[in-house]
Amino acid sequence: MQDFANKRIVLGLTGGIACYKSAELVRRLVEHGAAVDVVMTEAATRFITPVTMQALSGRHVWLDAWDARPANNMAHIDLTRGADAILVAPASADFMAKLAHGMADDLLSTLCLARACPLLLAPAMNREMWGNPATQRNAAQLRQDGIVLLGPAAGDQACGEVGDGRMMEPLDLRTELAAYFQPKVLAGRRVLITAGPTCEPIDPVRVLSNRSSGKTGYALARAAREAGAQVTLVSGPTALPAPLGVRRIDVQTARQMHAAVMPLAAQSDLFIAVAAVADWHVSNASGQKVKKNAHPGGLPALEFAVNPDILAEVAALPGGPWCVGFAAETENLAAHAEDKRRRKGIALLVGNLAQDVMDADDTALVLFDAQGAHPLPPADKLSAARRLVAEIAARLPGRR
Ligand code: CTP
Repeated sequence: MQDFANKRIVLGLTGGIACYKSAELVRRLVEHGAAVDVVMTEAATRFITPVTMQALSGRHVWLDAWDARPANNMAHIDLTRGADAILVAPASADFMAKLAHGMADDLLSTLCLARACPLLLAPAMNREMWGNPATQRNAAQLRQDGIVLLGPAAGDQACGEVGDGRMMEPLDLRTELAAYFQPKVLAGRRVLITAGPTCEPIDPVRVLSNRSSGKTGYALARAAREAGAQVTLVSGPTALPAPLGVRRIDVQTARQMHAAVMPLAAQSDLFIAVAAVADWHVSNASGQKVKKNAHPGGLPALEFAVNPDILAEVAALPGGPWCVGFAAETENLAAHAEDKRRRKGIALLVGNLAQDVMDADDTALVLFDAQGAHPLPPADKLSAARRLVAEIAARLPGRR
């Protein structure tokens, strides 16, 4: 999937050690289909050479407001017209101050002032510079002017200090830029999602679980957040990092998932149950490791109790959120899915074949609602999640 197919991005670099990360950033943007025009301030060229940026972008690098190459001699206008966004990464404290005051004394600041496209900044500076009241005043002014600030992140700094001011990592910046371009169909909605498997203990070292990777639920959490929602993800154990900007609550068992979900559900507009929740837990789980030969014939006698059906309970909440369920089936998808939708009392159920989804990167979803079955085209999980978010948003009732 190419997040920036047919997109032209102006990538501005100002003076800061984080310029070394911009080489990686340009590569990551190009990899996803972007045409990247790099514009560097004089200070930026002290940290990384234009040759590096030219080699990675495959395009001419712009340094000078007096560059005579454009036929009309107006690089400061031409570069922004037809650009889908300007991203300045790193954006130094000095550059932010200039922008906040509408100054335009070099090519990059002039481009920003003359732009007809969105402007995003990735601040990068020492923590004291970021915390300085002047920088904070400028940051607030820039936000008020409609400029998007990405980060800064916190952590180790090149100067040896630790704190806020690091430039966000290149992959995170790419993710944030891709999110910026997504339609905000869930703006302001509170979305609760369950994802991953649950693990039901047999004893302190053994569990009963399933092969859910969590990829679909995590992709949906990312897509919902990209669409402008405030997203909470209640997740069973997975190997996946939490998507940027998503609040994740980690649980192990179905009962823990139930306990985490119920209080949050009442405050949500939308609940999407993607988790592969175990239907049963071991009611006689041992407090100590079960020894192999402790039972006659070597077989432990496990007893089971039914887990709460989280989705059905949330769907039955008076004034509760709009609910979407998932069903991974190994056979008779349509019959099982429609039956499940009615049984759980939900308007929309998303079905797929289990053998296609467990740990796979691609998925083919079928939507089941009161009107029948609607297959979606097969796609990678993020594209499918974005499409699903659009389908959900189109069906979601107005604000409560
Ligand atoms: N679900 C849930 N809590 C459970 C079981 C399932 O919230 N205890 C949710 C899942 O997250 C999913 C939907 O219900 O959105 C369907 O899950 P599935 O396991 O397919 O349904 P079951 O009711 O368990 O039916 P069956 O095991 O017969 O397929």
